[in-house]
Order: sequence, then structure tokens, then C-alpha cells
Amino acid sequence: MRKFYITSPIYYVNAPPHLGHVYTNVVADVLARYHRLKGYDVFFLTGTDEHGAKVARSAHKAGKEPKAFVDELAAQFQEAARTFHISYTDFIRTSDQGKHWPGAQKLWKQLDDAQDLYKASYKGLYCVGHEAFVTDKDLKNGRCLEHDIEPEVIEEENYFFRLSKYVSKIKEAILADTLNIKPPARRNEVLAMLEGGVEDVSFSRPSKDIPWGIPVPGDDTQTMYVWCDALSNYISALGYGRTNDENFRKYWPCDVHVIGKDILRFHAVIWPGMLLSAGLPFPKSIFIHGHILSGGKKMSKTLGNVIDPFQLQQEYGTDAVRNFVISEIPSFEDGDITIERFREIYTARFSNGIGNLVSRIATMIERFFNGEIKKPDQALLDNLPLKITDAACHVLGEEKTEESFYSSVQAIIHTEERKYHQALEDFNLNRAAQSAWLLLRHCDWYIQEYQPFKLVKEDKNKGEAVLWNAATLLLAGAWFLRPMIPETAEKIFEIFNVGSGGELLSWNEITGKSIQPLFPRLDLDT
Ligand code: MSP
Repeated sequence: MRKFYITSPIYYVNAPPHLGHVYTNVVADVLARYHRLKGYDVFFLTGTDEHGAKVARSAHKAGKEPKAFVDELAAQFQEAARTFHISYTDFIRTSDQGKHWPGAQKLWKQLDDAQDLYKASYKGLYCVGHEAFVTDKDLKNGRCLEHDIEPEVIEEENYFFRLSKYVSKIKEAILADTLNIKPPARRNEVLAMLEGGVEDVSFSRPSKDIPWGIPVPGDDTQTMYVWCDALSNYISALGYGRTNDENFRKYWPCDVHVIGKDILRFHAVIWPGMLLSAGLPFPKSIFIHGHILSGGKKMSKTLGNVIDPFQLQQEYGTDAVRNFVISEIPSFEDGDITIERFREIYTARFSNGIGNLVSRIATMIERFFNGEIKKPDQALLDNLPLKITDAACHVLGEEKTEESFYSSVQAIIHTEERKYHQALEDFNLNRAAQSAWLLLRHCDWYIQEYQPFKLVKEDKNKGEAVLWNAATLLLAGAWFLRPMIPETAEKIFEIFNVGSGGELLSWNEITGKSIQPLFPRLDLDT
């Protein structure tokens, strides 16, 4: 069985999870589910990044000991993962001394053995938001461009990692795509970073200032730099540095690290440098998504535009949130969410879209065919082409082609199936979801065009074939959406009694009965 190891970043536990964190996790989850459905042995890792100044300060502000504070917040991140049906294999916490520390410390020792760690005095500007030293180009009027805080002047002695030594090897791997960075714009961004010159990185902090962290092996006056600690989670969770490292041997190298654009340098430059130093293989790919903006601006407490994922979930359900972030946010760029837009999409895609189609088709099967239709002769099915009007093409933003005008339902499904798989191979989750929504719109138009509820009275066989084709478009749409909205897809397969979807288009009977709406209409006043 082919293996697929996928990771999400590990989340800082300085504040409760917000929609941006849920986004990264859903993206990784869709890819994990997709590969499971394709028969891969998937290991999906997520977790929390619990050390460092940022977390320690938040604990202090909350009047709590760091350990008690991170326990509470890590539980909230675990709750978020449950709420949004994140199908992780393991959840790593960097404060876990038994599970994470041995790997982080072993990796440190490997870098040390390779003589890639040296002590030096350093004076620089440290941004706690970044958990990194910043330079003038990261600042505007003395404040960090990204976090809008003033960095602190730090002058201390610490260990440095000889990252500069590995620049050309990292570049070679990226150019050869053995370290595949997607999308291409981010790959170019990393190459430009490497071209621009890379300095060695401060890899520890004095423990008197930063006691909340992993002690440097052999020197307890220092704690590991939080990013050195955090990046090693990708191997420590698999057992690296522990007696049982079977998973490490089985799953490393990672197939894909899913990350947001703000942490590109750490993953595409520092992490490969660490792996080279330790003599370990690179991850195969890194997929970088954009950010979710709220009303056109970065979500932030100060701006008051943070969207609470738990509240959204309570009001609209897990799949509505999962669908929004996948279907409405472009996979490689920033995307915007407002509550108004969220509600519009819920209504269009769910209440008026998939939910309405499910109940219309299920009711027709019950009413006109005693609750079951059987696969008609292929010749009959092929005589019912999918005619798409100019208006439909316009709405879909589709090119007018012979195929999109006159092909059969099966042909349209096969065309979209190819595009769907290709999109997922390219990590273009948004494009993959569009294939599903396209089939569902075709389903709607197909019913409008052939009016099966009238046709059955004139020609029952033809009526059944039309209904079969409509149900097929709907089921194929649900089949495509299995990794994105698993619960809804499963409900649809149950309603039409087609197992768990099985192979695409493998259905021989489709049953249906009238049901309560899957997605109730929103009350316009609320
Ligand atoms: N702890 C580090 C990651 C260490 S991985 C070895 C970290 N944590 S974070 O909590 O700040 O961010 C975690 C992930 O959430 C990142 O991929 C980040 O891009 C993502 N997001 C945080 N805010 C986001 C949005 N508003 N939109 C989309 N994703 C964003 O960085």
C-alpha cells in the first residue's frame, strides 16, 4: 500500500483557534481524505506549538502558569479539530516531554555533530509576533509590518545554526523539484530569498530569559529557539529519537507539508537546512496557501474582524464552514470572508443548491417509481444529451464548446473527473470543488430542460432515464465532494442507498424517499 504522510503546521497556543487555523487544517484534511479514498495508507499529523516567548507572555497575561495555560488552549485546538471533522492520525504537542522532546533533542545533537551549531554574541531586533529576528525591511516606522508591534532589541549570546552552508543545496533541490514548492509563485519567492543571501540563524535563547522551552542538550543555560523546536515535530511525532521509530522509518520523508504563506521561509529554507545537516531526506513537497481575510483585511483582534469558527459552526454546521473555505477561497491566494457572503453561499450552494436537489430528486423517485429506479439501457441514456444554454455557459464562465453543449451526462462527468483529479494532484482544492458544483448546476438545468415530473406521464421509460441522469449528476457531485464535505456526502449516499459512493458511476439502483430538508433555509431576519 502506498503511503502518504501529510502535516498541518502546529498552532501557537497563545490565543483560541480562529478561522485561519481552521482553514489550514481543513485544507490538510481534504488532502488526507482524498488520498485515503484513493487507497493510500495516510498518516496525517497536526498539533500545537506550545513554547517560546509569545506563548509564555500570553500565559503570564492570563495570570497562569505556562503549563496550565497551554493545556487549556491545546484542548481548544483539539476541540476545533473534532468540531471541523479533521481526520488526523496524531496530534503532537511540543510540551510533551515523552513524545516530542527526544526527537527535538536528537535533531539538535545531529546538527551539533555536523558542526553546524556555534556560539556567538548577537544584537538584533526580535519580533515576538514572528518569533524571529527581523530586519529593517520587515519594519515600517519602527514597527513590524505584519504584527504591528515594536520589535525588542536583544543582545545576548546564543547558538547559531550554519544555515548559509546549505543554501546552494537547497536551491538545487528546489530547481530540480525534488523539493517541490507549490504554487510556482511561492517557489519563485523562495528562490529569490535564496538568491538574496541567507544568514545563519540564531537557534537558542538564554534560559534565564526564555525558560519555557526545551533545554539545549548539554547546555541548560540555553533553551532551543522555538522554530527549531517546532519544526522537529514533523519527525518527533513519528518516533524519531524514541525507541520505537517504526513510523519514522515508514512515513518519512513527508509527502506534503501544508502551510500558510507567512511561514514559508521557515519551511522552505530553515527546515531543509536542518534536514541536510542531519543527513535526512527532504519533504517531497510543500503546499502554501494564502490567508483568509475578513472584510478585505487581515483578521485581528485589534481590528475587531476576527470570525469565530465555533460560532459559525453552531449556526450553519461543520460542512458549511468546510465548504466555504475550500470552495470560496482560492487555494493559492488570499480570499475574503464576510458573514453576508457566507450566508449567500450557504443559501446558493446548500439550501437552494444541493439540499434542494436532493429532496426534489428523492421525492420524484418515491412518487413516480415507488422509491427505486434502475439503471436504464445505455442507448436510452445516450439519447438524452445535456443541453446547456448560453446563459448557463455564461454563469459558469465556461467556454462554449461542442462538448459542453451536446455531450451525454456520463461524458460531462468523465471530463470533470479528469480535471478534478488533476486539480487535487496540484493541490488546487478550490478548482477541484468547482467541478462538483458545476455538476450540481448541470443537474439543476437538466431537470429544468427535461422536466421529468411531466415526462413520466407521457413516457415512463424516458422519464426514468431522465431522472436517472439527474440523480447521477447529483451523486457524482457528492462523490467529488467526499473529502470536502464528508458528512453531507455520506448522508446523500445514504438517502439514495448507494453505499459509500463506491466507484464513480458504479450505481445500478438508486432509491429515494421524501426527506426533511438537509439544509434549512435561513431566516432572512437573523
Ligand atoms: N507555530 C507556527 C507554525 C509552526 S509549524 C512547525 C505558527 N503558528 S500559527 O498559529 O501562527 O499559524 C498556524 C497556521 O495558521 C499557519 O499556516 C498560518 O498561515 C495559518 N493562519 C493563521 N492565520 C491565518 C489566516 N488568517 N488565514 C489563513 N491561514 C492563516 O505559525
